Amino acid sequence: MKNSEVIALLILVRVSSVFLVQTWFVPDEYWQSLEVAHNFAFNYGYLTWEWVLGIRSYIYPLAIAFVYKILEFCRLDHAYALIFVPRILQALLSAYADYCFYKWCGRMKWAIFNITTAWFWYYVCSRTLINTLETALTMIALAHFPWDSKRNLNSTFLWIVSLVCIMRPTAVIQWLPLAIYYAIILKGRLFDVFFRDVLPFSMVSFMISTVIDSHAHGKFIITGYEFLKVNVFHNVGEWYGTQPWYWYLSTGLPATLGIQIVPFILATINILRNRHVYQNDLALLGCITFSLGIYSCLTHKEFRFILPLLPMILKISAGHLARWSYKATPFMVWLVVSVILVSNIIPALYLSLIHQRGTLRVMDHLRTLSESSPHNTSLLFLMPCHSTPLYSHLHKNVTTRFLTCEPNLYNVSNYQDEADQFYNNPNEWLRSNYPPTGKLPSHIIAFDSLLLSITDILSRYKPIYKFFHTNMPSGRVGAFVYIFEIIRT
Ligand SMILES: *[C@@H]1O[C@H](CO)[C@@H](O)[C@H](O)[C@H]1NC(C)=O
Repeated sequence: MKNSEVIALLILVRVSSVFLVQTWFVPDEYWQSLEVAHNFAFNYGYLTWEWVLGIRSYIYPLAIAFVYKILEFCRLDHAYALIFVPRILQALLSAYADYCFYKWCGRMKWAIFNITTAWFWYYVCSRTLINTLETALTMIALAHFPWDSKRNLNSTFLWIVSLVCIMRPTAVIQWLPLAIYYAIILKGRLFDVFFRDVLPFSMVSFMISTVIDSHAHGKFIITGYEFLKVNVFHNVGEWYGTQPWYWYLSTGLPATLGIQIVPFILATINILRNRHVYQNDLALLGCITFSLGIYSCLTHKEFRFILPLLPMILKISAGHLARWSYKATPFMVWLVVSVILVSNIIPALYLSLIHQRGTLRVMDHLRTLSESSPHNTSLLFLMPCHSTPLYSHLHKNVTTRFLTCEPNLYNVSNYQDEADQFYNNPNEWLRSNYPPTGKLPSHIIAFDSLLLSITDILSRYKPIYKFFHTNMPSGRVGAFVYIFEIIRT
């Protein structure tokens, strides 16, 4: 394939995901990026406790806020632009990362195939998630890593790595083994490179990010240190759920890799048998194993945390498939291609179009309501915390309230977050927060599973919209999302 064709294909695939992926994945896609950027650019919104305490780097939200400011300056700050422009930019960065991945894999066709068909990467590549950015930058850095030590030792990748680690301190986990490998490659020049590149790069990145964060917070702050304090000393992650140590092996990795786990396992066996031939792949395997080991020790586990390992796995698998396909019959190659393709397309489509789409669809209607009467609209979300995006998707300064779920940051005994208090006794919570004589919200947004528990307040409302959300309702998340409107008398 010609270079321009590869680039066009990658852009097409990534940008298509902006419009195809219409579902909600995790709160952080909005609450750690768009909402923060919206608050910064337009001076209204809601910041979660992470931003009040200052444990996250402002670099990513500020980049988005900058885009928002340009849109505002050009009078193009319509809500659709605020939603789609950051996603398109993220998708283009992911496409560039894919191109770097392709170069890193020695311009193999299997590299294009593996990266474009990976369902999980398709599902997240255009989301404004810090994990997406981290993975894209990791791919770019991997492509600049001096794998071939005979050539000139390039240190561009050090810039990117220091940026990634400052924005996302946990990126150190996957970069530590690679840094050791880099040190081995350098041999005698280690001292030299450390003082010439590593130290100045990390110092400059650290200073720039501290200036940015301190400016955004209005006081001197080192977000990496605050992050460490909250996560290590208070172990706040546990508040958001714990999984057994083997979860990444039993669920995380198989689900995110899908059928690709088969060539990956075969490749791993082959690499371990021929260690001397595949030294770079061996280093990657070491990095993957080390990172999975560390992530498995942390109690809070999520699919997206291992996303940066995906390109490394796909590279190893692509190399193996390429070697295999030289010897295989054309029929076998087509068979394998079709199986990988179909088994990725099915989850990609289902998860992008159907599963958990209600909480995004509902925002389109809430926006219409807010735009038609901004002064009379007040929204009450009776759902698990951060179930929907908010001001980044409304772009109207209407009154809103949702149930919060802050962790027990101040060591209160018998602590219950607001969402738990509500779900323990919904009618009672509503009575004390919305006394009959007081003003009621104009609209209530809730999952169908809750409706029978809030009959008192709903007697004064009528349902106006109902959206499908998921085929697999569970716990506090129902199959449908309802909008109720107050009956005006
Ligand atoms: C947004 O609304 C709140 C509450 O009504 C008000 O205090 C605030 O000043 C408004 N902000 C802007 C930028 O309009």
